Parts: sequence; C-alpha cells; structure tokens
Amino acid sequence: MIIGIIGSGAMGAGIAQVVATAGHTVRLLDQNAEALQRASQSIETNLRKLTEKGKLTAAAAEAALARLHPTGAIQQFTDCELVLEAVVEDLAVKQQLFRELESIVSADCVLASNTSSLSVTAIAAACQHPERFIGIHFFNPAPLMQLVEVIPAIQTKAGLATEVRDLVASWGKLPVLAKDTPGFIVNRVARPFYGEAIRILEEGLADMATIDWALTELGGFRMGPFTLMDFIGHDVNYRVTESVFTAFFFDPRYKPSFTQKRLFEAGYYGRKAGRGFYSYAPDAVLPEPNRDAALGYTILHRVLAMLINEAADALALNVASRDDLELAMTKGVNYPKGLLAWADELGIAEVLDMLDNLYAEYHEDRYRASALLRRMVRERQHFFI
Ligand code: NAI
Repeated sequence: MIIGIIGSGAMGAGIAQVVATAGHTVRLLDQNAEALQRASQSIETNLRKLTEKGKLTAAAAEAALARLHPTGAIQQFTDCELVLEAVVEDLAVKQQLFRELESIVSADCVLASNTSSLSVTAIAAACQHPERFIGIHFFNPAPLMQLVEVIPAIQTKAGLATEVRDLVASWGKLPVLAKDTPGFIVNRVARPFYGEAIRILEEGLADMATIDWALTELGGFRMGPFTLMDFIGHDVNYRVTESVFTAFFFDPRYKPSFTQKRLFEAGYYGRKAGRGFYSYAPDAVLPEPNRDAALGYTILHRVLAMLINEAADALALNVASRDDLELAMTKGVNYPKGLLAWADELGIAEVLDMLDNLYAEYHEDRYRASALLRRMVRERQHFFI
C-alpha cells in the first residue's frame, strides 16, 4: 500500500517511521524543505537506534528507509491509497490542503487527519467526497505510543472505520474507535487529572509536591499532574484545555484555570523553559511533599472520582466502548488501571458519594455526577465484575 503523509514535523515524521517500518511505501511531504530534511534524518537516527538495541534488524531498517520518499511536490501523491495529514492545527489550512489533494489523488484514496482538537467532520466538509474521510489520531511520540484513536466523521462511509482500525492494528498499534466529539477519548477523559489537581492547589488544600506525591505514590500514576503538565509544556497543555472547553460550548466541567493561564502568559512553559509549576534551574531544590496518608488519599480520591466521572459520562454518551475507554487511558496516557475497572474497585457508590459531596459543598456544575453512575448504583451494577 502506498501511503502519503503531509507535514513532517514531530507527528508526521513519527507516523512516517511507523508506516514505513510496517512495510508501506511512504511519500512524505512538507512545505518546508528544512523540516523535511530534519524528518528524514530523525527517522534514520531512530531506526539506527532500534537496530543497535536489537529491536529491528539492520536489513529491516534499511528496507524501511528505502520505502521512504520525501518530496516537496504534492503531485507525487497521485498513486497514494491513503493520505494522512499532520500539518498545523488550523482548520482553514487543513481544509485547503484536502481540497487541493482531492484534485490529485484517485477517487478511492482514503483521506485522514491526525488532528487532536478539531472536528473531523468540519475538515471532511471541505471535501467533495467526505465519505472517504476519517480521523487517525496518533500520540506523541508516534513510534513509541501504542494507542491510535480512529474517528469517523459523520460523513464517513460505513465500514471505513473498521478497515482503518484493522490497518492501524497491522502496524502493531492499538486502535480504539472514538466518536467525533471534542478531545475524542484521551484528551477529554484526562482533563480532570490536570484541572482538579490545579483546583486543589488553588484552594490551598495541599501544595503541588503533595498532590504529585499522592497521585504517584498512592495512586500509581507515572507522573504527578504538576510534573506532567511541566513535562508536556503549558503552551500545549493549556491550549488543549482551552480548546476542549470552547468546543464543549463552555461546559464548566472543562473550565481552564487562571493558575495555568498565567504560566502560559508568562512563557513559563515548564521543563523546556526551565520554569513552570516547578523550577528546573540547576540549583533548584524540589519541594518536599507532606506525606500524610489521610490527606494523600483525600487528594487521590477527589481526582480519581472526577476522572471516573468523565470516563463514565463518555461511555454513557457513546463516545467509545467500555473496553476502548480502558485501553485509551492505559495506553494513551499510561494510567496504571482503566478508570472503569478502578471505579469497580473503589465501589461505584463510593465514587458517586464523593462527587455528590463535592457538588453539595460547591454547588458547581463541574461536580455534577454522570447519570450513568447514579443508575448503576441504583441497579447495583458494575462495569466489569
Ligand atoms: P509541527 O509543527 O511539529 O509540524 C507541522 C509541519 O507541517 C511543519 O513541518 C510544517 O512545515 C508543515 N506544514 C504546515 N502547513 C503545511 C502545508 N499546508 N503543507 C505541507 N506542510 C505543511 O506539528 P505537530 O506537533 O507534528 O502536529 C501536527 C498535527 O498533529 C496537528 O494537527 C496536531 O494537532 C496533531 N497532533 C500533535 C500531537 C503532538 O503532541 N505534537 C499529538 C497528536 C496530534
């Protein structure tokens, strides 16, 4: 199969590496010749490292490189059977690109976008044949992250999502099917991990070192929310939060925080800027957490209850299946457990109680419990057991 990738930045280069290694001929296009050059070099370096680690034979790496064809001309895409774009996150740019592409590729070429925050349906709407359009959302870095969200637009023809899901699986990835709603699965369900942690900090219930400690040491998350936001970068993480909030018609559940907005405005983007929630200056001393177990579990359970509520609501609204929700959060953001399985373990009635107590205390819509949790408690159901 011949696959075209447009945009050779962080994502496009990674995706090109994945599909070339999987055995496809890849045409990789970027409007910026330097970016294209950088992408080719980074793919070559990555493949060499994989051979050094014994994860790929030298022959396989060489064959993958031979299948990779960087180009500056979209006219080279005439023989592509699938084209996936990973250009800037701008609706008008993406729509214009697909308009141009449709005049070049054959009528049965599948068109796809790696967008993480735009509506797949809105991009597809620019196409003459939107029925062959679909979202294929990789995670960064694409060669390492197993999860891929497959998102049919409302125009997408029946059967295409299954075909794409199978194709993505053949690349050694774990595809999940998501409805075309803001943030798809991962970027929606994960919001409270950041938002509720910041809220706890803002209220002065605990400092960030203690919140990070509670989530990692008591919860088993790989990174605490503040360390993770600093790692992702507030330029990226704040923008995602803001765009999800806007896309949800300003549902208070997804409201961004002023604390993070100020870091964003100041350019304190996190680790890469040397400063975010924490300081990364060479002489910086990391603050010590308050290792009080009772406080730690209060923090952990509050964040978990909010995450579980989000996952339950996504299930209730058919954003994804139960199993895909679990796979998405364990493979897309490395959560130690699926959130629905975690709900079973904590007790759904207990989770609902925590949410209702928060709602009773604050009377804020962000703490409204999913109707699914309430129904499950009434009917004594569990997600898995
Ligand atoms: P990037 O800024 O690293 O790369 C974008 C590339 O597209 C640049 O090299 C640029 O020269 C090129 N480009 C822009 N307009 C073009 C056009 N009209 N024709 C050809 N090339 C063009 O961006 P990144 O991070 O790779 O993101 C790309 C897409 O993937 C965006 O839609 C983003 O939302 C999405 N995404 C990003 C993730 C991330 O963590 N960086 C994760 C998942 C999705």
